[in-house]
Amino acid sequence: MINKNDEIIVTIEGYNSEGQGIARADGFVVFVPFSVLGEKIKVHIIKVTKSYAVGKIVQILEPSKERVNPPCPYFSKCGGCALQHMNYQATLQAKAEIVKSALVKIGGFRDIQNVEIVPSNKKYFYRNKASFPLFIDDNGNLQVAMFKGLTHDPVFIENCLITDELINKVAVVFKDVANKFYSDSKKHFKYLVVRAIDGKVLVTVVSDVHIKNAKVMFDGLKNGLGLDENSLGLLECKKISDNNVILEGDVTQLCGIKYLNCKIMDINIQISAKSFFQVNLDIMQKIYKKVIKNAENKLVVDAYSGAGLMSALLAKSAKQVYGLEIVKEATEDANRMAKENNITNLVNINCDVAEKLPEVISMVGENALLVLDPPRKGVDQKVIDAILQSQVKEIAYVSCNPATLARDLKLLKDVGYQLKEVVAYDMFPQTQHVETFVKLEK
Ligand SMILES: C[S@@+](CC[C@H](N)C(=O)[O-])C[C@H]1O[C@@H](n2cnc3c(N)ncnc32)[C@H](O)[C@@H]1O
Repeated sequence: MINKNDEIIVTIEGYNSEGQGIARADGFVVFVPFSVLGEKIKVHIIKVTKSYAVGKIVQILEPSKERVNPPCPYFSKCGGCALQHMNYQATLQAKAEIVKSALVKIGGFRDIQNVEIVPSNKKYFYRNKASFPLFIDDNGNLQVAMFKGLTHDPVFIENCLITDELINKVAVVFKDVANKFYSDSKKHFKYLVVRAIDGKVLVTVVSDVHIKNAKVMFDGLKNGLGLDENSLGLLECKKISDNNVILEGDVTQLCGIKYLNCKIMDINIQISAKSFFQVNLDIMQKIYKKVIKNAENKLVVDAYSGAGLMSALLAKSAKQVYGLEIVKEATEDANRMAKENNITNLVNINCDVAEKLPEVISMVGENALLVLDPPRKGVDQKVIDAILQSQVKEIAYVSCNPATLARDLKLLKDVGYQLKEVVAYDMFPQTQHVETFVKLEK
C-alpha cells in the first residue's frame, strides 16, 4: 500500500502519455515526471488515487546514460516541454513507445511491432507559432509568460527554446512597447499570439478592449524588430469569454499585413492569424509527402483540411479533392490559395465534418481516399458511422493524439479496416506530443 508522503525507491519501466516515467511499487503504478527509462530513483509520493500514484524525484540513485542537463532555465516549471532532461534519441524512443502503447492498450492491436519514428531536422526553435499569456507582475509591469504544467499560473519567460527566434524577439519587443506606451490599457492585454514564417510576422494581441493608438504599437514593433510594413502585421482579437480558446472572437487587422505570404512545396499560400497551420514545417512536409503518395488519380476527401495546403498538394496528383473545414477564415485561405495557384480540381467546403461527410463520402464512392486529420479530440461517432455507410476502402489518418487515434482505430478495426502502416513523426520536439500517420484499408 502506498501513501501520500511515502518515500520509496522505484525503477522506471516505460512512459505514460504525458512523457512521465512509469514505475511499479506494491503492484501499484507510480508516475514519475522528468525520469528516464531504466533509472533507479528515490521518489516522494505527492499524490495517490485509486489507480495510480505520482512521485517527485528526491534522488536519482542510478541515472540513465541518456539523461542530459535541460538547456531551458524554465524546464520543469513551464508546462511546455516534458522531455528536455533526456537526449534527443531517447525522446524519440519514448514517443514511439507512447504511440505503440496507445495502439496496444486502447486500440487492441496486440501484435503491433516497434513503431518507426521520423526525427525533426530542428530539435529546438522549430515552432512557427506561439501563444503567450500576458500578466501584470507585482511591480505593475506587463510580463510575457507560459503556463505552469496543468495550471493557469504564469511562469514569466524571456526566451522559449522551442519557439522560432524571431517570435521570441517579438515577445521581448512587445513587452517593452506595452510597458512604455500602454501603461493604462496593458492590463487588458490577455495573450500575445505570434506566427512567423520566412521572416514575416503576424502579431495578434488578444485583449478585452479595443486597442487604441495601434499605430504606436505597430511602429514600436516595426522599429524594434527591424521589419517593414510588408513583413509585419498587427491584429487584435477581442476576448469575449473567459474560456481556454485563445483566438475565439473575430480577428481584426490593425496595421501592416493581414496574411503571411509564403511558398511551401511550390504552392503559394496566404495564412491568416486564425487558421490552423502545422507548427513544424519540416515535419509537416514529411507527413504531407507520405499522405500524398496514396492519392494518385483518385477522388480524395481531405477532412479537417485547415488552410488547405495538404489539399492543394493532394490535388496535384488526385483527380478531384474535397477539403472540409469548420473555421471560416481557414476555408477562405484555402480558396484564395486554390485560385492563386490555378488549382481547379479542389473544392473547399466550410462545414462541420460530422455533418457534411456522409453526403461527400457517398458522392465520391468506395474507391476514394479519405484523409482524416482531426484535432486532438479525434473524430466524432457520426464520422465513424459515415465511413461505415460509405464502405470507402482507403483511409489515411493523421493524428496529434495517440489516445484518440487508438480509440478511433479500434472502432474502424471493428468494422473491418486493417492497419497497413503506422509511422510516428516528431512534430513537437522536447514535448511529450507526437504526430502519427496511419494507413487503413478494407
Ligand atoms: C489538426 S488540424 C489539421 C489541418 C490541416 N489538415 C493541416 O495539415 O494543416 C485540424 C483542423 O480541423 C478543423 N476542425 C476542427 N473540428 C472540425 C469539425 N468538426 N469539422 C471540420 N473541421 C474541423 C480545425 O479548425 C483545424 O483546421
